[in-house]
Amino acid sequence: MKKSHLRYLQCPVCGRKPVLVDHRISGSEISRGKLLCETGLHFFPIVLGRPLIIKDNSIANWLPPINKALGINIQESYQDSLGRLGEMGIEGALSRNEKVKPCRKPFNDENYFKYYDRKILNKAKYRKSGVFFNYYNRMRFKKYSDLKFIKNSGNEMFNKFLDICLCLKPKKILDLASGSGSLLTSLVNNAKEIDFAYGVDNDIFCTWSLQYRLDHLKNAGRTEAFGVDVRYLPFKDNLFDLVTCNVSLTEIQGISQLLTEAFRVLRTGGRLVICNLSEPFKSNYYQTESSSWIKMKDIKKFCKAADLFFDFPRFNQFAEQIGFKGNKEFFFSRNNNDYFVKVWSKTI
Ligand SMILES: C[S@@+](CC[C@H](N)C(=O)[O-])C[C@H]1O[C@@H](n2cnc3c(N)ncnc32)[C@H](O)[C@@H]1O
Repeated sequence: MKKSHLRYLQCPVCGRKPVLVDHRISGSEISRGKLLCETGLHFFPIVLGRPLIIKDNSIANWLPPINKALGINIQESYQDSLGRLGEMGIEGALSRNEKVKPCRKPFNDENYFKYYDRKILNKAKYRKSGVFFNYYNRMRFKKYSDLKFIKNSGNEMFNKFLDICLCLKPKKILDLASGSGSLLTSLVNNAKEIDFAYGVDNDIFCTWSLQYRLDHLKNAGRTEAFGVDVRYLPFKDNLFDLVTCNVSLTEIQGISQLLTEAFRVLRTGGRLVICNLSEPFKSNYYQTESSSWIKMKDIKKFCKAADLFFDFPRFNQFAEQIGFKGNKEFFFSRNNNDYFVKVWSKTI
């Protein structure tokens, strides 16, 4: 992490300024240390150069959001996780659903040190070197540097998304739930001039991978990957010109909180641009009458209660309730799925 980015940060618990303590610098990077909130109550580690400004219990390996909402710590397919909902029945599922809680309690300092565990650090070092390992069947590239950050990738929807973002000529960019950063790296590589671009994800391994890729781009000094829960952003109000989120809504529990935070960190006139599946649950097989499957209306009920993404119109309605004004929208069909790309602006 570069010291210059500190001035844009705030504690996600109390909103105060963080101060850098016990740190070590290697080159221009803070390689390790702590960000201690001015109150002295909340602190966040910088591990192998990555600031993990996140509640310890939000640091996650990937889980289907329905499992997250049900408190089931098992990695499985969306279909299997929907099956669980069916087995429980809608009333049972609703009674287990834990709502996303506000982030007011101090973090548990002691727990953080488990992330300095040798096993975790070794995995992180591996990722920091740019080598992608088989990760919940998400392995695609042997090495991140193999990726070409080209604009005309042949994916019409991605190109549209990228074009919209680039036309806005943003100087300060935040990419929510960046994963390993296909959007952010393409954006940074094709943007003419940026002040800074940040990527955030609660999967801490993604942050090392993303930084590896960002470091290989011409804007490396102005980019940073943070371990962050998108529902509790550690950035100051009115900071960004552009907030993006690429195909991640279906993986996040707490989308209305995500929208509220995106609104807060955008400057007036700033844009939120999102690309996502329009209707993740449209397939008929969720609607079979077999006892282990669940009806569409119950999925909808559960998504509403658990603040999960259900469909584009409801999401759009949320965005408008929060204060966003809808601008352009585009719809695409890809691999038998419908997607939207939509731009909202923060106008007060
Ligand atoms: C489909 S991937 C993102 C792809 C990425 N946007 C891109 O352009 O390549 C979805 C990501 O959402 C992240 N995620 C899910 N819930 C999150 C949360 N509450 N806070 C931060 N990241 C979250 C997951 O860790 C995962 O990396």
